[in-house]
Parts: sequence; C-alpha cells; structure tokens
Amino acid sequence: MPQPRVEVLIPAERIQNRIRELATQINNDYAGRSLVLIGVLKGSFVFLADLARCLTIPLRIEFIGTKSYEHGTTTSGQVQLTKDLDKSIENEDVLLVEDIVDTGLTLNYLFHILQQRSPRSLKTAAFLDKPSRRRIQVEADYIGFTIEDKFVVGYGLDFEQKYRNLPDLCVLVQ
Ligand code: IMP
Ligand code: MG
Repeated sequence: MPQPRVEVLIPAERIQNRIRELATQINNDYAGRSLVLIGVLKGSFVFLADLARCLTIPLRIEFIGTKSYEHGTTTSGQVQLTKDLDKSIENEDVLLVEDIVDTGLTLNYLFHILQQRSPRSLKTAAFLDKPSRRRIQVEADYIGFTIEDKFVVGYGLDFEQKYRNLPDLCVLVQ
C-alpha cells in the first residue's frame, strides 16, 4: 500500500511563536497562582510539553486518556475514559490541554467529569479548533489555531497512530 503524502499546513516555527503568545496570556491570567495542567492522551503530548516549558507559574502535570475513534478518521460518537488522573484536583486551578476540538464531544465529556471533582477553577486550552465540525457547542478558553475542515497530522496528532512526531502540522493528501 502506498503511504499517503503529507503537506505542511502550519510550520513548526509559526507553532512555536503562537505557543509563546498563549503562554504569555496564561502566565498573566494565573499570575500569583499555581496550575494543574491536564494533558489529554495521546494527541496533546507535544503541545503540552511545549506550552509547559513556556509557562513560568508553578505547575504540576497530569494526564487523562480518552478514546473516541475506532479507526481512521471517523468518530464513533462515544467517548471512553482510558486513563484517569493519578491525584485529586479538588481546590486546584486546572487547565485541560487538548490537541484539537473537532466535534466537541471529548472536550464536553472531560469538562463535565472534571467539574464534578470540585476544582477551584477549570479552563481549557486547545492547540487546534475545527469549528465547522461541531456537534456540541463547546469552545476552548485558549486556542492555538482555528483551521478548516481538513484531517491534520503531526505535532502530536495521528492518523492510525502514525505521524505524531512530525514537527510541523500537516495535512494528509490521500
Ligand atoms: P472530538 O471530535 O472533538 O471529540 O475530538 C476527538 C479527538 O479526535 C481529538 O482529541 C483528536 O485526538 C482526534 N481528532 C479530531 N480531528 C482530528 C484530526 O484532524 N487529526 C487527528 N486527530 C483528530
Ligand atoms: Mg485527542
């Protein structure tokens, strides 16, 4: 089978510039406080790593895992928890970090689960936003880039578990 080709949509340097901007905003918004960053596995691991290193406020890092894709590029419409947090977030300022908000089902599901655990505050950051595909009206508080309805890979995002390591955000050319 021939491998699909990839084309660069957002180059690594532009991504890094945008992350510095987002981090400046988050550092200001949480000045004098500390933060729990919760990365949604697996897609957010690169964004989380870059964002965390630009933040100067004290923070700890947690991961939560979800699954919604059976295979390929279509969502099953069902979100499942595959890994829970290791520690309580009660009375903590929490920032949930996602790779992309697509249908909105994952962000909506996780927001409600985490809200039930009595954090002091709960906000969301998404590297990408694909508003044209929304099935539930949710919006992240911090958004890296808004993109058109294209299936993207790289910078943590995968197609069938591949391409996560590409430093640029790319589009699959089928
Ligand atoms: P949701 O549809 O908003 O629930 O998004 C579910 C998950 O699907 C995201 O966290 C991503 O991991 C994945 N996803 C959505 N769109 C894309 C894409 O264009 N490329 C790769 N993964 C995607
Ligand atoms: Mg994801």
